[in-house]
Amino acid sequence: MAKVILISGSVFGTATLTADEIEDQLQNAGHEVVRPDPVSIDPLLDETMEWLIVCTSSTGNGDLPDDMLPVYTALLNDYPRITHLKFAVVALGDSSYENFCGGGLAVDDALADLGATRMADPLKIDAIEVSEPEKIAPGHVLKIITDANQ
Ligand SMILES: Cc1cc2nc3c(=O)[nH]c(=O)nc-3n(C[C@H](O)[C@H](O)[C@H](O)COP(=O)(O)O)c2cc1C
Repeated sequence: MAKVILISGSVFGTATLTADEIEDQLQNAGHEVVRPDPVSIDPLLDETMEWLIVCTSSTGNGDLPDDMLPVYTALLNDYPRITHLKFAVVALGDSSYENFCGGGLAVDDALADLGATRMADPLKIDAIEVSEPEKIAPGHVLKIITDANQ
């Protein structure tokens, strides 16, 4: 069983719904999921936590949704100690935008820069091709955690 922090950032709700499904599937597999509401940096500082899963859409020009900004700003400005965390990012976007999945990729970079361990390349889900990301992302995340724990 892994101790997992799950944070999500969303404008219209797709990433929230996707994170809901990730949470359900991780819990059904026996993992402990901490999901701060509102999204907060605090659980990342808890050195008993093992994993961080980020599920976020992009808005503007590759920007993060407002609800993800407090965590992203804290990562950039406060240099939190998060080297105990393994992480994976699920990035929702739309390839018709110039900066495809830019928000999720920015978080991915910031986490790696702080020394957290990237366990997989970001999963980029293109709204043009995939209408129900909540059907794809949970299995992907569960596999990353399961494979790492074997
Ligand atoms: C105003 C607006 C700006 C967007 N900008 C981007 C962008 O820069 N890059 C990208 O990959 N997707 C962009 N998207 C697409 C969304 O990220 C995508 O539709 C996502 O699935 C929405 O998820 P949400 O409902 O959780 O916000 C944009 C969508 C809108 C409506």
